[in-house]
Amino acid sequence: MHTRITKAVIPAAGLGTRFLPATKATPKEMLPVVDKPAIQYVVEEAASAGLDDVLMITGRNKRPLEDHFDRNYELESALQKKGDADRLAKVQESSDLATMHYVRQGDPKGLGHAVLCAAPHVGDEPFAVLLGDDLIDPRDPLLARMVEVQEQHGGSVIALMEVEASQIHLYGCAAVRTTADGDVVRVTDLVEKPEPADAPSNYAIIGRYVLDPAVFDILRKTQPGRGGEIQLTDALQQLAADESVGGPVHGVVFKGRRYDTGDRGDYLRAIVSLACEREDLGPDFRTWLRSYVTQEWPSGS
Ligand code: G1P
Repeated sequence: MHTRITKAVIPAAGLGTRFLPATKATPKEMLPVVDKPAIQYVVEEAASAGLDDVLMITGRNKRPLEDHFDRNYELESALQKKGDADRLAKVQESSDLATMHYVRQGDPKGLGHAVLCAAPHVGDEPFAVLLGDDLIDPRDPLLARMVEVQEQHGGSVIALMEVEASQIHLYGCAAVRTTADGDVVRVTDLVEKPEPADAPSNYAIIGRYVLDPAVFDILRKTQPGRGGEIQLTDALQQLAADESVGGPVHGVVFKGRRYDTGDRGDYLRAIVSLACEREDLGPDFRTWLRSYVTQEWPSGS
């Protein structure tokens, strides 16, 4: 017997200091990737995996997020009067995606603490967590596969990606065992942002999780870890160490396109890559990009 997963939790309380000054008065989640705020891709990803109940964990100065996923009657009626059906559809799209809920984190005590703020809303059922800084290319679905793996094995499922050894200190890192499924591994241990010498593998956690609700009880007792913050990775390490608590922890190994939109270089790559693929913008943009690169940077410098 399994419960169908319908709830997604999106932590969005971070300050976005890597993008100052753009984020001085605008939440980082609202920065556009082509013509949609980064956070809309994440909500779309949840909705297309069948999770249409979305809880955002927010903080001060995050009101624009609530407004973005709400109706805007003034704008809608102005566009209606003009007969601009295309733009009207774009405005309505974000408010029709999912049922949105918001809770404030209050003290910024880390990702584990942010997830714990979701406990009253989630209750006793498995749920997904999607980190807003990780943008998974919509052409490479990941969450739907994770939900499938959770339905098959129970317990929790995390998304993993192989990274260069020099990069592992930026991520949670998993020790794994292979399974009969090529893209699925069994997680035996986890460590948050290890030094390269202490990393058990080069499997990095990327910001997608499907979690058993047993994680909440563990988080209530989890002491601050790396950076003095309550780490979700530390709670998951306890789940992985003792299957009797909340079932096994599996990992889905992702080989698709993922961008860290909290990093300026990756943010630019996300925009260029997604713009190139767009039916409306892509053909002109690709032509320009090709000639820009060959004329301005002929030697690849
Ligand atoms: C968080 C998690 C880390 C994970 C990463 C993925 O770190 O703590 O385990 O690998 O997200 O993006 P953050 O990047 O928020 O410091």
